[in-house]
Amino acid sequence: MRIDVALVPGEAAPAAADVLVVIDQIRASTTLTVLLDLGCSDVLLAGTVIAARRLAAATGALLAGEHKARKPVGFDFDNSPSQLIRADFRGRPVVLCTTNGTAILGRVRTGAHVLVGALRNARACAIAADGLARGGERGIQIVCAGRNRRFVAEDAVAAGVIVARLVEILGARGEAAELTDAAAAAVRLRDSFPDLLTAMQQSDGGATLRRIGQPEDIAFCAEEDASATVPVLHIGPPMRVERLAR
Ligand code: MLT
Repeated sequence: MRIDVALVPGEAAPAAADVLVVIDQIRASTTLTVLLDLGCSDVLLAGTVIAARRLAAATGALLAGEHKARKPVGFDFDNSPSQLIRADFRGRPVVLCTTNGTAILGRVRTGAHVLVGALRNARACAIAADGLARGGERGIQIVCAGRNRRFVAEDAVAAGVIVARLVEILGARGEAAELTDAAAAAVRLRDSFPDLLTAMQQSDGGATLRRIGQPEDIAFCAEEDASATVPVLHIGPPMRVERLAR
């Protein structure tokens, strides 16, 4: 099976893969996984703060997200998964709007299957991606959301973890993984750090979280396999993510 990584969002090629896995490790992918784990009835995605406010007004949903890493005026929550996890979302719809994460999901939505991956759901995401890509001819592309369309290490490290998991899964059933240079580079980047917490601390996203005074999210986002939830994208409108049925 062919496994590729788009190290920057401009390299995303939804038509060239059977399954896309979108990663915005710090923090949109982690937040989406957490919101579904907390029992949100629906997570609707908005591309702009104005669209998010309009969608929340029309649906009665709670509003979460960030603009320039801060909570926009009128939002109920920001994009901090370690804070969201303390709130009660059971049966409540939420509109999420973030700068890079929801934007890339909007751009790749033509892909056949679009999953959301992070360290938090790495194992579950690799198993799901493999299951959906099996029997197809185009394989899996992992798409790093980046920051302002540029490379960030936290996304590439999380991609490396998911690639490594896919290699294990394929190997266990005697199948070869055909890694592109970008996929192999993501694995090597992951291996270059002593552990995932250090990788997150030393990344662009880690520096941003320290700057905005939310360093607790660094350790939270570094947690590996804490969730078996795999968010899957539905085009809509409105565009939304749901938990992939197992
Ligand atoms: C984004 O989508 O740009 C990020 O998730 C920003 C953040 O960490 O809040």
